[in-house]
Amino acid sequence: MFAKVKPNTQIIGQNIIYFNRVESTNQFALELIRQNLADNGTVLVAEFQTKGRGQLNKSWISEPFENLMFSIILKHVTFQPTDPFIINKTLTLAMYNFLKRKLPEQQVYIKWPNDILVNNKKICGILVENNFSGSTLNYSVLGIGLNVNQHFEHIQHLNATSLTQYFGGELDREALLTEILETIESTFDQLSEDGPTFIENSFNAALYGYKVNAIFEIDDALVMASVSGCDKEGRLILDIEGIEKHFLHGTIKQFIAQ
Ligand code: BTN
Repeated sequence: MFAKVKPNTQIIGQNIIYFNRVESTNQFALELIRQNLADNGTVLVAEFQTKGRGQLNKSWISEPFENLMFSIILKHVTFQPTDPFIINKTLTLAMYNFLKRKLPEQQVYIKWPNDILVNNKKICGILVENNFSGSTLNYSVLGIGLNVNQHFEHIQHLNATSLTQYFGGELDREALLTEILETIESTFDQLSEDGPTFIENSFNAALYGYKVNAIFEIDDALVMASVSGCDKEGRLILDIEGIEKHFLHGTIKQFIAQ
């Protein structure tokens, strides 16, 4: 499986390592980098992870042989980011663009900081692990979990969905991965060529709740606010009665309409 993944790219996915079973593709990627064994753009794909990692120390669980779980090693970024969260934004925007292209009739949003929702259910999770020395970015591991052929209709509490729910039959995961890697590389090319502002504006405009008044939970209180964007450090900017405030991931709760 995955032998047919030959993306039309310069860097991302020119080398692919496939695992039937691994603790975590992000973890394995970090170890390869530490041992100086990783080429820039290497992709690690797994059918099953025994310790799949998610945001905020949560785990990522996915049925084997049904979805896509992979990590990309970025070793030499051609620019030094002034924005520590720009790698995150660029990758998330790439996945958003890919899903919007696949599902043009559906509501696709980025749920800050990194989830992608389709019709208010999570389809994709992203975990970027950056290594900085001061403000110099040494390397990044970009971890992506995309629900493809798994059915979630019977596990309502997860509030998850997958591509098959919209296409009916089974989707070809090799073809999808090829297209995703091409989309990711072209979005990073856009970052190098056009600079961060275009990426930041596109990311903000795709955020769930952008410029829409809704209820948030902040310090155990319910507050009416709207999303104005995401700052350079990755904090959510909320407009609360005309005043902008910045919040770290995990400190507030944004409700998803069901
Ligand atoms: C989240 O939604 O909390 C982020 C989930 C990220 C999961 C992917 S699956 C491939 C890669 N390896 C990991 O251990 N995690 C990421």
